[in-house]
Amino acid sequence: LVAGAVPAAAQTFPSRPITMIIPFAAGGPTDVVARIVAESMSRSLGQAVVIENVSGAGGTTGSTRLTTQAADGYTIMIGHTGTHAASVALYPNLRYNPAADFTPIGLVNTNAILITAKNALPANTLAEFVAWIKANERTANNAHAGIGSVSHTTCLLLNSIIGVNPQTVPYRGTGPAMNDLVAGQVDYLCDQVVNVAPQVRAGTIKAFAVAQQTRNQALPNVPTTAEAGLPAYQVVVWNAMLAPKGTPAPVITKLNEALRAALADAGVRARLAELGADLPSDVQVSPAGLQAFIEAEIAKWTPVIKAAGVTATN
Ligand code: MLT
Repeated sequence: LVAGAVPAAAQTFPSRPITMIIPFAAGGPTDVVARIVAESMSRSLGQAVVIENVSGAGGTTGSTRLTTQAADGYTIMIGHTGTHAASVALYPNLRYNPAADFTPIGLVNTNAILITAKNALPANTLAEFVAWIKANERTANNAHAGIGSVSHTTCLLLNSIIGVNPQTVPYRGTGPAMNDLVAGQVDYLCDQVVNVAPQVRAGTIKAFAVAQQTRNQALPNVPTTAEAGLPAYQVVVWNAMLAPKGTPAPVITKLNEALRAALADAGVRARLAELGADLPSDVQVSPAGLQAFIEAEIAKWTPVIKAAGVTATN
């Protein structure tokens, strides 16, 4: 091969379906966003982008899986704040380095976190919830999507700000965790707006506050944490599209163009807006911008996790 020449396989990419690994259960926030974007990418790439849910260990199982796949663009994934930033401090034996073992394609979206609870919980405001959890710390349970998932780390942060340490109940994603919250089997959940908005609109759960500076477009009646009296709790999470390390640049360019086309598609934008997701900046949706973003997020989350004093095994 002449230096700088484009391999033939990269020139004809994609000539068969692409598998997109989602490291959480179907029906949850990562899966929902991925399916909206993958459907549009399938159209622009002329090949099916097939979702494969590989859940477990807070999303680190599916992320590890990607690092064992051929670097040809036919297997990609959606990782997030948990799998590709918080995991570094949480898992001493993490089998991948999020900043070195992947080829970034682009940031997909950001999601606000909401503090949600089962309808039967005897609290209707964030202040009442804080009083309730302090009084019921030993029996209350906090659902999450596994150690290192965003529902785990963002509620760790909430619990440490409030000063409580309740029991936690792990799931393989917040899709199933949300089902149990709706059924009243668990007490509360810190979850991404895309999973929360449909349930709050349907009246099946309560949302006490959104942990961002302005109210969310999809849930305009839910106060911000600052409005509700807990201004220190601010957290927004993200989804990122990644390929295995060493994927050829022309293949990454085609995948990035398809991602950009999806994010420019009016139908995709309307669906994401309805779910309350926010779109990335032009820099964040570039491979180099995503690489810098992931490095900054690892640097941001590592001291937060270390301060919370938790580690995990996978
Ligand atoms: C999911 O898709 O289930 C979530 O992104 C899990 C989480 O990290 O809380």
